[in-house]
Amino acid sequence: MLRPSTIATWNRNPADEEAMGAAHAPIWRRMVDVSVPHDLSASTVLDYGCNQGGFLRMLYDTHPFKSAIGIDIARESVGRAELLKGHRPIGYQVASTAASLGRTFDFAFSHEVLYLLPDLAAHAADMKAALRPGGAYVAAVGCHTESGVWPHWRKLIAETSSIPLFDHSLEDVAKAFSAAGFVVAVRPLALDAFMPVTVGSPYFPKITDQLRYYTTDKVLFRFVRQAA
Ligand SMILES: C[S@@+](CC[C@H](N)C(=O)[O-])C[C@H]1O[C@@H](n2cnc3c(N)ncnc32)[C@H](O)[C@@H]1O
Repeated sequence: MLRPSTIATWNRNPADEEAMGAAHAPIWRRMVDVSVPHDLSASTVLDYGCNQGGFLRMLYDTHPFKSAIGIDIARESVGRAELLKGHRPIGYQVASTAASLGRTFDFAFSHEVLYLLPDLAAHAADMKAALRPGGAYVAAVGCHTESGVWPHWRKLIAETSSIPLFDHSLEDVAKAFSAAGFVVAVRPLALDAFMPVTVGSPYFPKITDQLRYYTTDKVLFRFVRQAA
């Protein structure tokens, strides 16, 4: 599959794209709870692969920040994010590189975007250009080759994704960011919420698959940009 520079929606089915934010909300909440250490009122924030923008709306409503930008290659989803942002100080833009924004941020986040990027070294260099020295990038990664459900998910997600998927290991991710000059740390997401059980779900054939995924397989990387 050729890699287009922009797409209409990431999920081929716009209704499923619309439903994604609600499904991800408990995970975003956990990302924020374990990685936002203090008041963000003087901080700027980037969400890489923001889709319809729900992560930044949630972050602002719990930890008001100075300003934020969300970028994504999915044009219709970015348009929806702009409509939904209300009075929050957020800009949503169609873009595939953070460096193209021409500014730096104090914090950056991404949730389940790395497996859609062919070149982790290029992404690490891009995020380095977009973070101030000492700035931190928290990336949630459940779609990786060591996840127990990945061989199965890879096929399922490929049927719905309008762009190709890539097989990255957690080591591949850590190596790319370490080589780019980040201090790399990792922790399990260790979700502390009741997650809905969908009987017959193709994603979690067994409840133990779901429990293992949200406690162990899905991780949060924190990449801190070292001073130059
Ligand atoms: C699995 S979705 C996750 C969306 C969102 N982060 C969330 O938590 O709901 C992956 C998103 O990454 C976006 N994406 C993929 N490749 C990208 C790229 N090169 N630059 C920016 N966004 C990208 C897709 O369009 C899609 O919206």
